[in-house]
Amino acid sequence: MTLPQDRSILSGAGGSGKRIFVTGGAGYIGSHVVRQLGEQGYQVLTYDNLSTGNDWAVLHGELVVGDLADSEKLWRTMARFRPDAVIHFAAFIEVAESVRNPLKYFRNNTANALNLLEVCRKCAVGALIFSSTAAVYGIPERNPVQEDAPLSPINPYGAAKAMTERFLADLAFVEPDFRYVSLRYFNVASADPQGRIGQAYRNPTHLITRALKTALGQFPRLEIFGTDYDTPDGTCIRDYIHVEDLASAHLAALEHLFHGRSSGIFNCGYGKGYSVKEVVETVAEVTGVDFPVATSPRREGDPPMLIAGNEKILRELSWRPRYDELRSIIEGAWNWEKIYLEKMKS
Ligand code: UFG
Repeated sequence: MTLPQDRSILSGAGGSGKRIFVTGGAGYIGSHVVRQLGEQGYQVLTYDNLSTGNDWAVLHGELVVGDLADSEKLWRTMARFRPDAVIHFAAFIEVAESVRNPLKYFRNNTANALNLLEVCRKCAVGALIFSSTAAVYGIPERNPVQEDAPLSPINPYGAAKAMTERFLADLAFVEPDFRYVSLRYFNVASADPQGRIGQAYRNPTHLITRALKTALGQFPRLEIFGTDYDTPDGTCIRDYIHVEDLASAHLAALEHLFHGRSSGIFNCGYGKGYSVKEVVETVAEVTGVDFPVATSPRREGDPPMLIAGNEKILRELSWRPRYDELRSIIEGAWNWEKIYLEKMKS
């Protein structure tokens, strides 16, 4: 497998020692951002309750094990660290689970975000980056969807994130010294090219990981949820983005805020989509395993198509993706799944 060289490791200390407080930095996306922040010379404190994250995934800075619901601990930790900016990842991430258990999502993804914002205000934090999601759009009228499309989430996961975006907009409106960037992630996949970190879920629900674990024999079959959508092959279409490119969008957003630029909302995706069937075929090619696939009814809460309009992030954050290719995304994820399997055995 050939992957582009990791420029962030080579280019050194763009962070100039600035202090970044990262909630959920032990999780999948958070740990990649923490690693890139370290490589760029930022000082990092990760605040994570380790409910789905892992201490071994925090490759840089300090880890404090704490919950966002514990406002007192959160405040003490943040007041001690005195961050220049906060990046907020800590959240639950499964659309289907949010449909089954909405209050769990509103509690953790909305109420805890409110706690965090209150503590940020007490600590005079003036810059925040928020992990939002394409799920805020619901079923967009047009694809690629642009950031100014109406927000109309069709599941509690998207609704909880949309509410937090509203908190941020309202707060920034009344507090001139508070600015934020909200990054709306499309479908994040793959892993650190050096194989140090990646998704660490034993029972993943996301398509690429689920398919790879099926190829490894950890599940009896992969189910394709819905083959009767109004798409060319009848299965849902998504915009899959490499976690390294998503991580670099956070560093670009930080620079944007540190240069005094205004708050903004940006889609994070490549602007092209692949169907579930195309992903499953590519997983079979990459792994060389002809794993069993079954068709199942539609999954509740799934929009048929989500493709990012990404002109705004390319233009305003000067974001330059480097891993924009489905096959290499899946190759990186496959490499990591084998490493993770060995890690779990030892
Ligand atoms: N799918 C299957 N079988 C599986 C798993 C998924 O057919 O075993 C299908 C889903 O039905 C969907 C597609 O694959 O059509 C992608 O599903 P994922 O679970 O991988 O991802 P989602 O699109 O549901 O959600 C993800 C993120 C959200 C984000 C959304 C935006 O979890 O944060 O992408 O595109 F909002």
